[in-house]
Formats: sequence, structure tokens, C-alpha cells
Amino acid sequence: MSSHPNLIHMFNGIPFTTRSSTDLLRSLDTFQAREDDLLLVSYPKSGTHWLAEIIKNLYDSKVTLTSPLEFGELSKLEEMKNLPSRRIIPTHLSYNMLPHDLKAKKCKSIYIVRNPKDTAVSLYHYYRDNPNLPTIEAWPAYFNMFMQGEVVCGSWFDHILGWEEHKNDGTILILYYESMKKNLPKSIQKICSFLGLSISDQEINEVSRMSSFNEMKNNVEKENHDPNHTVCALTSNRKLIFRKGAVGDWKNHFSSKQNRLFDEVYKSKMESSALARRIRY
Ligand code: A3P
Repeated sequence: MSSHPNLIHMFNGIPFTTRSSTDLLRSLDTFQAREDDLLLVSYPKSGTHWLAEIIKNLYDSKVTLTSPLEFGELSKLEEMKNLPSRRIIPTHLSYNMLPHDLKAKKCKSIYIVRNPKDTAVSLYHYYRDNPNLPTIEAWPAYFNMFMQGEVVCGSWFDHILGWEEHKNDGTILILYYESMKKNLPKSIQKICSFLGLSISDQEINEVSRMSSFNEMKNNVEKENHDPNHTVCALTSNRKLIFRKGAVGDWKNHFSSKQNRLFDEVYKSKMESSALARRIRY
């Protein structure tokens, strides 16, 4: 991280890329929420694009999917005022950085969690392939950075724990990447209940099909040729997003020593976390 300080800057003790200006981060609390704003929340590389695609398909594209709340310049806050409702707003912000008005208006959030070992691996590849992120060392050095929370958006552990504290507020739906992989229609059904959408089983199966890894990956490939095949625009580097989309890729990266260390840290940091106990991999 320190070799390319220009691509990362610290705010509130958390590393952000230069896609998030300090002015914007400093002014986030002036963001004006609408009661029907829907937040898609995640630690990076947990399946944000997947979730966004599902929501877009559920609403038949009749919603406004924004870029992540924390990306951009100060003018972003003004620009968002002009967007039509319903605004679907992805974010990687920790709970305590979330603009006050979103909390005051009790806006709904869907929080997607992925097992941290696969998240770490996915982020590692993203660092390696993405010119907007600092060049990193080989896996062993990166592994230590991840464990210390010295990666973009900070510590996975803190992100989860901060959001989990609010899981009973009645405004947050928690989804698990691995459960979605296992039975996507069931997760989509949960989303529909949470959002008050009544949709037939046939439509759920169709949304599930349209949101599969292969379908999304193929659509990204087609995008260059066919503007009708667009996938959510959370990033300008969409091709980097669809790597493997698998559960358990961490086994190809973690040494047994790293695995033991990870399990020890996980056990001590996440001891009180009911959410962590539900993560399967
Ligand atoms: P991998 O790098 O392990 O392949 P995000 O959208 O938060 O940046 O997360 C990206 C990760 O989600 C990538 O993981 C990507 O492949 C995976 N992903 C994206 N769409 C998916 C889908 N439809 N099904 C399963 N995984 C998906």
C-alpha cells in the first residue's frame, strides 16, 4: 500500500481509493435521503454486482442504480438530488460512516456477506488486475495486509461487526453469498418479502437465471457490441468483476499456516458474532 500512496488515502482511519474524494467523504453527512432509497451494502468483493443485478431484474430496470455512495467528488451529493426514485445505492461504507439522514429516514439496506477467506482472495485478484488500486506484493504479504485491515475499505471484521450491531433495527436484510450460490431462488424470495414485492415463482426463476454468474459474465462480454445487454454500472472495469464466482477458492491460496492463523483471529474477533457463526465455506 505504501508504495503507491497516491492511489489510496486514509479517511477516519480507513483506506479509500482516490475514486472517493476527501471532500465527498467529509460531507457525506449532508446527503439527503429519500424514504424509499435502498442501500446495497457490502465489504468489497462480497457479491455487490450480483445483488445489484438481482434488484435491477426484480424491478425490471425501473429503478435508478447509482455508483457507490462514497465514489466521486463533492458534486456527487448535488447530482444525486436530481436522480429519479427509486434510488438503489450501493455502498461499502461502515455503519458509523453512513449519512445520518439514511438512518433518520429508516431507509432499507440489504447487506451481503461472503466468507472472508474467499473475499480476501477475490480482493487480492482485484488488486492485481485493477489499475485504480496500488500494486501489491505477492499473496503472503497481501494476506498480512488483509488481516491488519490495511486494504481498501479497511477491516472485514470491523465492517461486519459494525453492521451486525444494527441487524435487529428492522431495516436490514442480511444475505449470505454462499446461500445464494446454493439456492438463489430462495434468497430472491427473501429479498421480495423484505421489499414487499409479490412475484410469481416463474418470475423468480427467471430473475435467478438472468442473474447467474455465466449470464452476467456473458452480458459483460456482449456489452461492447450490444447496448441492450448492459450489466450494472458500479465500476468502469466490469470485466474484472467476473473472475470465478465460486465458493472455496481460498483453498487454492491459503497455506495451512495462514489458514490456522486466520481461524485463530476469526475465533477471537468474531466470538460474539451470530452472523459469523452462520457463514459456511
Ligand atoms: P471472485 O473474484 O471470487 O470471482 P463485488 O461485486 O462485490 O465486487 O464481488 C465480486 C465477486 O463476486 C467476484 O468473485 C465475482 O466473480 C463474484 N460474482 C459476481 N457476480 C456473480 C454471480 N452472478 N454469481 C456468483 N458470484 C458472482
